[in-house]
Amino acid sequence: MTNVVVVGSQWGDEGKGKIVDWLSERADIVVRYQGGHNAGHTLVIDGTSYKLSLLPSGVVRPGKMAVIGNGVVVDPHALIAEIEKLEKQGVKISPENLRIADNATLILSLHRELDAFREDAASNSGTKIGTTRRGIGPAYEDKVGRRAIRVMDLADLDTLPGKVDRILTHHNALRRGLGVAEVSHDTIMTELTSIADRVLPYRDTVWLFLDKERRKGARILFEGAQGSLLDIDHGTYPFVTSSNTVAGQAAAGSGMGPGSLGYILGITKAYTTRVGEGPFPTELHDDIGQFLGEKGHEFGTVTGRKRRCGWFDAALVRQSVATNGITGIALTKLDVLDGLDELKICVGYKLDGEQIDHLPASQGAQARVEPIYLTLEGWKESTVGARSWADLPAQAIKYVRQVEELIGAPVALLSTSPERDDTILVTDPFED
Ligand code: GDP
Ligand code: IMO
Ligand code: MG
Repeated sequence: MTNVVVVGSQWGDEGKGKIVDWLSERADIVVRYQGGHNAGHTLVIDGTSYKLSLLPSGVVRPGKMAVIGNGVVVDPHALIAEIEKLEKQGVKISPENLRIADNATLILSLHRELDAFREDAASNSGTKIGTTRRGIGPAYEDKVGRRAIRVMDLADLDTLPGKVDRILTHHNALRRGLGVAEVSHDTIMTELTSIADRVLPYRDTVWLFLDKERRKGARILFEGAQGSLLDIDHGTYPFVTSSNTVAGQAAAGSGMGPGSLGYILGITKAYTTRVGEGPFPTELHDDIGQFLGEKGHEFGTVTGRKRRCGWFDAALVRQSVATNGITGIALTKLDVLDGLDELKICVGYKLDGEQIDHLPASQGAQARVEPIYLTLEGWKESTVGARSWADLPAQAIKYVRQVEELIGAPVALLSTSPERDDTILVTDPFED
């Protein structure tokens, strides 16, 4: 028995929510450890769809504890709205099943505004990132800049005003430079005191809670957001998010030691998608790209933006296997490939006439690489809802085997529809 870390191995939206929901039946606690409400995780349970952004996907299962770790940036308004939305869907949320780290950073309205001001200004110069405009980047900047307001500060009205002054000194200087109105001390104090009563009941010393539960033998499932290619260090910088998304962050972002992480499960889409700007070597601008987008319903959960689609890039996922220490993968959306005559898998790149087996870190080189493809025969049969290998056509099995060989990691789970139970178990990550 071990703990499990779920990470996205591509540019996000690999189906982490569905797999975390499926795995959470076997877990006691589900922990988010980075990112914020830039994430959009969709679960489909008996035809009902649940969309989660900030709350761990385990929250929909009665009897499971959901934890928001210190590595997450928490927008209190988004938190309250998401709790209310889920309660309307019949999900019960209280401190009995949700804890938020008292040392987690808060996203304030000024972070959301700064994200939008910057993206708007960058749009005019053609340098935007295409962020979710949720204030994620500005909030992490303040955390690293040691001027963030944290959950626990809401309970300390003696020190809070000084902290508000400190964050405003920085933000008002920026706002003056951007030519936008300054924010007053009273505005931020009112914002914080108005949400304090809704947030503070969930606060906990999360590292201590997790340590006690670990000692009692609880099974812990860590739920990553975004994907490894959006990692602030290992991703396609600067077209990335502002946190470390790789598995190592599960330790630092929750307060558990790396020795407790256990099985690292890389959620991997059977093709590739990306939302926002940035390099995408296997992107398809043709009918096949269109086919994948329509069949896979590739529209962002958070912003509704159309996701860019392309062939599976084994070179990139091989890189993610290394940077995360992936033990095995959950291969999702195989069903979307049904009906294609042939399938391509990128095995490496050509860069300035040379053959390379990984994506270089330089932005210029990332834009110039050309994929080298392996072509496989497709299949005509439907794999939608397949629940065993026996239900898969031979060519689909061949595709899966080829993926495993090229990325250097085995398939532990295979997903064949958005529904919770349309999942083939090969190896139970909790028992590995
Ligand atoms: P996440 O951000 O990694 O949790 O992924 P999203 O939820 O943003 O996007 C994945 C989408 O694919 C969701 O709408 C899921 O319901 C859906 N999905 C997940 N697994 C499968 C699958 O195996 N087949 C199909 N067709 N859809 C899937
Ligand atoms: P899940 O957890 C896909 C992308 C944005 C943008 C970049 C930076 O659902 O997989 P940010 O708002 O984080 O500063 O935006 O990162 N991005 C995601 N793309 N899935 C996500 O989350 C994402 N979260 C952020 O589109 O390109
Ligand atoms: Mg998503």
